[in-house]
Amino acid sequence: MTRTEVAARAAGAVKIYGEGDAHVRALNGIDVEFASQQFTAIMGPSGSGKSTLLHCLAGLDSLTDGRVYIGDTDLGSLNDDQLTRLRRDQVGFVFQAYNLVPTLNAIENITLPMAIAGRKPDQEWVDRIIDTIGIRDRLHHRPTELSGGEQQRVAAARALASRPDIIFADEPSGNLDSSSGAELLGFMSEAVRQLGQTIVMVTHDPAAAGYADRVVFLADGVVVGEMLEPTRERILDYIKLLEA
Ligand SMILES: Nc1ncnc2c1ncn2[C@@H]1O[C@H](COP(=O)(O)OP(=O)(O)O)[C@@H](O)[C@H]1O
Ligand SMILES: [Mg+2]
Repeated sequence: MTRTEVAARAAGAVKIYGEGDAHVRALNGIDVEFASQQFTAIMGPSGSGKSTLLHCLAGLDSLTDGRVYIGDTDLGSLNDDQLTRLRRDQVGFVFQAYNLVPTLNAIENITLPMAIAGRKPDQEWVDRIIDTIGIRDRLHHRPTELSGGEQQRVAAARALASRPDIIFADEPSGNLDSSSGAELLGFMSEAVRQLGQTIVMVTHDPAAAGYADRVVFLADGVVVGEMLEPTRERILDYIKLLEA
């Protein structure tokens, strides 16, 4: 399988909510690229546009101006059906709330999107994911019988199961205690390093962003900086510098 070097990008991305005096420029001209097979974190103060950028990149919301691409595809050029298909076949999403189906067990939740799409799961791939997240002995448990950390790892496994070109995650460890959060983030970084997946994750937590290969910093709807091979300590120092 060939992959483009750039899994997703935004060019001059502007998003305005509302009109007139009440309008908010959530994105104010964003230019950013996300490389394939990299784990990128997006950080920034509350209200800086992180979720808006992620939703627009994932085709869950549309821009007011500018362009976003998944691979070489300009999302603004697609009609509703094409956009739905792209979201289903090329994009995975992990939300802060796990959004698992309560009546289905873990493995049924993981393979549900493919069942809906009428596609047969690649069993070898699904097995690798299950072993990487370390919940093989919990596969036949329903969400209420799993811890928060296990539920979020199942949600991440569900996003990975169809081998999307890119996975977007919005504060995926936001509802987890620190050890469950560490397990989830460890899984996500292994999915990139061992399984060759591409992940873009919004977080406000420097420890979470420390698992990434790269951090992109937003403020007031623009990119204000970036860091390669981040650590929690370097991120904290950089944020102090940005705020100074
Ligand atoms: N649906 C919406 N309607 C109006 N304003 C919104 C909406 N979503 C977000 N905003 C505003 O856009 C700005 C960026 O929001 P958001 O992308 O959620 O930031 P972040 O995820 O960094 O906290 C904020 O000022 C927020 O209040
Ligand atoms: Mg947000």
